[in-house]
Amino acid sequence: MSRADSLTAEEVIGSRGFVDDGYPHDAWRVLREEAPLRYFDLSPRPGFWAVVRRADIVWLSKQPDRFLNAPRVAVFSDSPPPDPDFPNRQIVRHLLNMDPPEHPDYRSLASSWFTPRAIGRRRKEIERISTDLIDELAKKNEADFVADFAAPLTLSVLADMLGVPREDWMRLFEWTNQMAGPGDPEYQIDDDAGTTMRTARDEMFSYFSAMVEARRASPRDDIVSVLASAELKGLPVPAYELLSYFSLLVVAGNETTRNAASGGLLALIENPGELEKLRANPALVPKATEEIIRWTSPVVQFCRTPVEDFEMHGQKIRAGESLCLLYPSANRDAEVFEDPDSFKVDRSPNPHLGFGIGEHFCLGANLARLEIRIALEKLVPRLEEIELAGPFERMKSSFLGGVKRMPIRYRLR
Ligand code: HEM
Repeated sequence: MSRADSLTAEEVIGSRGFVDDGYPHDAWRVLREEAPLRYFDLSPRPGFWAVVRRADIVWLSKQPDRFLNAPRVAVFSDSPPPDPDFPNRQIVRHLLNMDPPEHPDYRSLASSWFTPRAIGRRRKEIERISTDLIDELAKKNEADFVADFAAPLTLSVLADMLGVPREDWMRLFEWTNQMAGPGDPEYQIDDDAGTTMRTARDEMFSYFSAMVEARRASPRDDIVSVLASAELKGLPVPAYELLSYFSLLVVAGNETTRNAASGGLLALIENPGELEKLRANPALVPKATEEIIRWTSPVVQFCRTPVEDFEMHGQKIRAGESLCLLYPSANRDAEVFEDPDSFKVDRSPNPHLGFGIGEHFCLGANLARLEIRIALEKLVPRLEEIELAGPFERMKSSFLGGVKRMPIRYRLR
C-alpha cells in the first residue's frame, strides 16, 4: 500500500477539525505527489474526492456551469447523515450555495461596497480602530491577541458597514463562532453541531429581520439598508435569501480575517528574521500580507459538484459526487511556490488561492487585505519584543482554520 492509499479521511480533513498542530500539511503533500485526486469514504455520509493541487482547483473553479457550489458547500466531517426526504436541505441560502445565472445577480447587490475604491474610503477609520486597540495593548505587557486585537478589529469594521450598533457586536461575535465552529464543544448548544448552527441561524435571522424592517422605514448609509430595499428583476429579495446574505457577510467577514491576522502574527513570532525584514522595510507590507494569507489559508475547503460525469487524473468522477477543494494544500504546491513550506514576507510572485478563484472569488478580499495591511503598518513599528505566553488555541472545525485564543507577552513602544 502506498503512503497515499493508507491516508484516512480524518487525516485529510480532520475528524472534527484540526486542533493541536494545525493543518495536515504532510498528508496533503503526500496526496499532491502521489494521488492528486483520491476518493475518501465517509459512510453513512457522502464521501469526497480530495483536490489538492493548485492547477486542478483553478481549472474546476473557473467552470462554474459544470462544477456547482449549490448542493454541497463543504465537507463537514461531523455533520449528521443527510435526511433522505430533503437531501439538499440547506441551513442558509446565499452566494456560496448559488450558481450562475442566479449567483452573479445576487453578488452584484453588494459588490459595490467591496470594490478597492469603496474599501479604500474606510482606511482612516480602520487605522483609527487599529491605533486605539494598539494603544490599549501598550498599557499592558500581556494580552490575548485574538480577544484584544484581531476579533474587535474585524468585527467592528464589518458591523459598522452593516449598520449594527456597538451594543450588539458581542452577539454577532457569538453567532459567528457558533455558525463557523458548531463542532467545537466551547460553542456548542446541547452538545450538537446541527442544533448549534440552527439556533445561531434562527437568532441571527430574527435579529436582522427586525433591522430590515427598521431600515425599510428609515434607510441609512449601510449594507442592511441597501439590501433591504434592493430588487431582483423588479421584486424585493426574498426574506430567506436576504437574511442568509447578512449571515454570510458576518461569518465570512469575521472568522477569516481574524484568523489570518492571528496566524500571521504567530508566523512572525516563529520567524524572527522575517519580522526583522518587515520592520526594516515597511514597503514590504503588501507582500507580507499576501504571504500571511497564503501561509494561514483560513478557509480550509469548499466543494464543487459536477453536473455530468467526467475524467480527471485517470479517475472517473460521477455527476453529483463531491470535489473537495483544499485551498491550503494548493498554497503549498511545490509546482508553483518555491520553497513552499517557508514563510517569507518578501515572497514574489505569490499566486496563492487563499481567497479562492473564479466565479466565487472572495467578495471581501479587498477589505481583508486592507485590514491586515493596516494591522502590520501600525503594529510592527511599535513592537520591541513579542513572544507567545501560552498555547495558540485552535477552533475545532474541518472547514475554517479558526483560532480562539493567542496569549502574548510583549513590549510596545
Ligand atoms: C483573510 C480573509 C479571508 C479569506 C481567506 C477568505 C476566503 C474566501 C474564499 C476561499 C472564498 C471562496 C469560496 C468559493 O470558492 O466557493 C470566499 C468567498 C467569500 N468571501 Fe471571503 N475570505 C476572507 C475575508 C472575507 C471578508 C472580510 C469578507 C467580507 C464580508 C468576505 C466575504 C466573502 C463572501 C461574501 C464570499 C462569497 C463570494 C461568492 O460566492 O461569490 N470574505 N472567501
